[in-house]
Amino acid sequence: MSDGPLSELIIKPIKAAPIEDLIILYKEAGWWESSYDTQPEFLNHIVKDSAVFVGAFWQKKLIGMGRALSDLASDAYIQDVTVLKEFRGKGIGKKIIQTLIEKLKENGVDWIGLVAQPGTSPFYKELGFELLKDHVPLRYKD
Ligand SMILES: CC(C)(COP(=O)(O)OP(=O)(O)OC[C@H]1O[C@@H](n2cnc3c(N)ncnc32)[C@H](O)[C@@H]1OP(=O)(O)O)[C@@H](O)C(=O)NCCC(=O)NCCS
Repeated sequence: MSDGPLSELIIKPIKAAPIEDLIILYKEAGWWESSYDTQPEFLNHIVKDSAVFVGAFWQKKLIGMGRALSDLASDAYIQDVTVLKEFRGKGIGKKIIQTLIEKLKENGVDWIGLVAQPGTSPFYKELGFELLKDHVPLRYKD
């Protein structure tokens, strides 16, 4: 981290974020595709239309995010959790997940699932997630 203490960190649900910050987060996470270059506006929907979108801010800059797709009554799927490389390993990802869970539970959501990227399941297991035995993640393919 360049300067300033981690106590300046703010983690909160948001409904909008600077598109430039979102692009940097997506690129660092390795989620950016060349086709997005001409239409980055989809990122505004990701923030606005997620049931819960949590942003982590340090010195007013968006340095981490996580979101939940949900009916906000019963079930939710956590998606797109990432922290800028410079800020990883400092407990920020953990706080993003905990904030998402807190907000979902406040709304009565009692089933929270996610598909962990390869190599990241230990991160989620520490936060209370367990393997869904015999379940298989599937994706629709055109
Ligand atoms: C996964 C990610 C969000 C974790 O964020 P982070 O802020 O570095 O995580 P934290 O510092 O809160 O780590 C919490 C705990 O999980 C562990 N952990 C973090 N990332 C891990 C990983 N990729 N694999 C295994 N364990 C991990 C940490 O060691 C830490 O353990 P500790 O509390 O015993 O020290 C971050 O590495 C990232 O942005 N990765 C790239 C995008 C990505 O893969 N996202 C997941 C999509 S499913």
